[in-house]
Amino acid sequence: MSRFYITTPIYYVNDAPHAGHAYCTVNADALARFHRLRGDETFFLTGTDEHGQKVADAAAANGVSPQEWTDRTSARFREAWTALNINFDDFIRTTEPRHAVAVQSFLTKIYDNGYIYKDTYVGQYCVSCEDYFTAESAPEGTCPIHGKPLTEMEEENWFFQLSAFQDRLLEWYDATPGNVTPSTKRNEALGFIKGGLRDISITRTSISWGVPVPWDSDHVFYVWYDALINYLTAIGYGTDDARADSWWPSVNHLIGKEIIRFHCVWWPAMCMAAGIEPPAHVQVHGWLLVGGQKLSKTMAQQGQVRLTDIQPQALVAEYGVDPVRYYLLRETPLGTDGDFSLEALVQRYNTDLANNLGNLAARVATVVGSKCGGLSPAVPMDSVLAERAAVAVDAAAAAWENFQPHLALEATWKLIGDTNGFLEDNAPWKMEPGAEVEAVLGSALEALRIVTVLVSPAMPATADEIWRRLALDGTPTSVPLATATAWGQFPSGRAVVKGDPLFPRLATA
Ligand code: ME8
Ligand code: MG
Repeated sequence: MSRFYITTPIYYVNDAPHAGHAYCTVNADALARFHRLRGDETFFLTGTDEHGQKVADAAAANGVSPQEWTDRTSARFREAWTALNINFDDFIRTTEPRHAVAVQSFLTKIYDNGYIYKDTYVGQYCVSCEDYFTAESAPEGTCPIHGKPLTEMEEENWFFQLSAFQDRLLEWYDATPGNVTPSTKRNEALGFIKGGLRDISITRTSISWGVPVPWDSDHVFYVWYDALINYLTAIGYGTDDARADSWWPSVNHLIGKEIIRFHCVWWPAMCMAAGIEPPAHVQVHGWLLVGGQKLSKTMAQQGQVRLTDIQPQALVAEYGVDPVRYYLLRETPLGTDGDFSLEALVQRYNTDLANNLGNLAARVATVVGSKCGGLSPAVPMDSVLAERAAVAVDAAAAAWENFQPHLALEATWKLIGDTNGFLEDNAPWKMEPGAEVEAVLGSALEALRIVTVLVSPAMPATADEIWRRLALDGTPTSVPLATATAWGQFPSGRAVVKGDPLFPRLATA
């Protein structure tokens, strides 16, 4: 059995979750669900990033202590993930004591290994990014991401000797062609490394909202330096090293493209400096855009997009959890930017869910009702749909394994289309009851059963509901994928129920 460890970025708690966070988290959840279904031992981590200037500022602006603010906002992320049926194995908060232990032990390793030193730094800082910019990276003196003026900061700080890792990073990239995907983003990371690496200031004295530096009590660690280590904290680094070793370095970090440098340059170098392997795989995704603009919290606060329209809970309340999940997974491939629009969501809902999946489930149950007394007939082993199903299962599994949920769903919907086409070609509703109609419906029911297994990572509640209506034993995920998708298992004599429409059509504007 293989193991699958997947992470999302831990989200800043300066403000509430939005559809961009939902996009990443739903993708990670579906990937984790696929791997559990495949029988892999799976660990799915998400959480919140609670230190740093930005969060401290948000707390102050709201007149509460940083801890109270982070408690409140972190809870909103959890609520959003509950609404979206996110089945994480752990939700880490960087203010938890276990995290301080891991951060201090990891950074003390780097310090002991001689890669941390004290120096004075003057630089142009963007608080929204929690990052410094140079004359090259911000020629206008404004943040290229947030468009705000940069602030000059001068600090005597502890530095990490990132510059010492340029060659080792290049060797690592050379040796591991799959370490960052897609390749366009990998090239971007390589570009950062080849462009030269400066040492990084990793501590702050200007704020106290952070993890204390164990060897210098005037300092706390810079938020990115504490945040990245969460991926180790959650698997027991510093507290349960045997467990940590069992999961590391076979990790998959799913991240947005704006944090490539942190995950694909800093983080592997930090791991090398601490004497552990760099993360095996970073999968980069693009941005959801609204009318061509990044859906960022900062811009939303400036009134440039209406974020209230795209809060995950509101979307779920309006369209249902599985349609939202389906849209996020199906519309925008991991690695490219995508437009977020309610029109496209409604279009996907009506076409893919109401007309294709919903219609298939309803019409099969209807004809089984009228031609077979509502009882499932035996599955013919020799069926054109058996081949179609085998093709779909292979294609979907390969796509999930390659971090391509949109292609996995495309393959799944191909089988739905093939099954609907098979029913149209055979028109069982026109047949007399008997062996012929039973063969057609036995095949269609079995194809629908396999479809249900295949949609389960994306739409777990829908899959459970179809399974229940088909009167099948267990759940769509109670046996591993390979066993579950073998043709010919639908038991005969099951009382199939039609039920209400799974996806009642939505009015289009
Ligand atoms: O960067 N489209 O947190 P963050 C798609 N705390 N995804 C989006 C998005 C959009 N418009 N907006 C945000 C941080 N995301 C750090 C991470 S990790 C050790 C620390 C998603 O709250 C995307 O995954 O700014 C992005 O990388 C992440 O949210 C950033 O969330
Ligand atoms: Mg951000």
